Amino acid sequence: AALELFRSKLQEGLIPSHIFNDAEIFELEKDRIFTKAWMFLGHESEIPNPGDYVVRYIVDDSFIVIRDENGGVQVLFNSCSHRGMQICNVEMGNTSHFRCPYHGWTYKNNGNLVGVPYGKELYGDGLHRDQWGLKSAAKYDTYHGMIFACLDPDAVSLDEYLGGFKWYLDIYLKKSEQGLEVVGAPQRWVVDADWKLGADNFIGDGYHTGVSHRSTIEIGVLPGPNADFHKDGVQVYADPGGAGFIYSPPQSFNGYPPNIVESLKRNLKPEQVELLIGNENYHFFPSHAGMFPNLSLLNAPAIIEQGGRPVPYLTMRTWNPIGPGKIEIWSWFLVEKDAPDWFKEASYRGYVLTFGSSGTLEQDDTENWRSISKVAKGSMARNHLLNYQMGMTSGIQPLTDWPGPGTAYPKAYLEANSRSFYGKYLEYMERA
Ligand code: FES
Ligand code: FE
Repeated sequence: AALELFRSKLQEGLIPSHIFNDAEIFELEKDRIFTKAWMFLGHESEIPNPGDYVVRYIVDDSFIVIRDENGGVQVLFNSCSHRGMQICNVEMGNTSHFRCPYHGWTYKNNGNLVGVPYGKELYGDGLHRDQWGLKSAAKYDTYHGMIFACLDPDAVSLDEYLGGFKWYLDIYLKKSEQGLEVVGAPQRWVVDADWKLGADNFIGDGYHTGVSHRSTIEIGVLPGPNADFHKDGVQVYADPGGAGFIYSPPQSFNGYPPNIVESLKRNLKPEQVELLIGNENYHFFPSHAGMFPNLSLLNAPAIIEQGGRPVPYLTMRTWNPIGPGKIEIWSWFLVEKDAPDWFKEASYRGYVLTFGSSGTLEQDDTENWRSISKVAKGSMARNHLLNYQMGMTSGIQPLTDWPGPGTAYPKAYLEANSRSFYGKYLEYMERA
């Protein structure tokens, strides 16, 4: 019934508030979204050598993401085939084998079962080891270093899932031939907020910039002459993968070091380069992006020294649901491998200042989402329809000369992407 109300109201640009903190909705989301969609787990640079692994999560399921001896990436279910014990109890490391702490079944780092204590004596020839290796995620794949997994064996391929989003993703991923590296481990922290609020905010909510982040503009961390400046960018939605949300830059692309500016001109399509560097028609910094359901990317500039030039930084993050109205945020900082050290350091400082657990803008954002999720738990929220109508009555028309796939509107303050996001959300939720 809740979903029916949602469907009928979404046409009018209305969203029921309780979906941001509702135990029943959350159970459905686990079943219909997080076991069906492609999920981001990490980046290949986190596990460069054979045997390197990190442990990652899809809601309640734990996976060992490991580089095997042949150089491939595997996504192994972190649960022993004997009694289900979690076999890996640290978050990262390097190993040739995993030995279960309970009875000692031992698996090679590609998941094959290779050791069973007293195996012959206790099972005779009846235990076929090749049938009792670690399970894998139903599907997993990588895209330019990004590692994804999907728990649905019938899901479309990652390539198909990403669809038009790839054109935008490439701008983040392919600025240099050597690609990106994650610096440090991802930062993680728990927030009493719903996962959809983060996902929606990153692709569809430029509107809060001038109010929630006004202080960061006033003290000069977030570049721009004033808060109004962030209003007029471009908002794009490219199906099926997700959306880009793009705004005008203060100083275009000046912040990247010369070797990266050179390599991005080689690696990207001329239209993508123009988008980044700007010409007389376009002058945008592709900043925010998101892929359904809960991955967001941000490539934005920060001013790390008073009066200094903006330095761009790149973060990927997942709004990892751990309960109704509760997430663990995972935030990765990435930088081009071949960027000079001064840039890596400056870019990291820009990230820490703005996003990541201690970042000023991050604090502004999560405070809002906590408040929304808290209110959403109450009984008033059951019939509280929220206004997502921005752009429906303004007569705004899509751009006809936008170089990338999808639908682009000449406005950053717009709720078209949010409505598309919840349209996709409903598509998944309504599939039995
Ligand atoms: Fe792992 Fe028994 S549960 S060996
Ligand atoms: Fe924000």
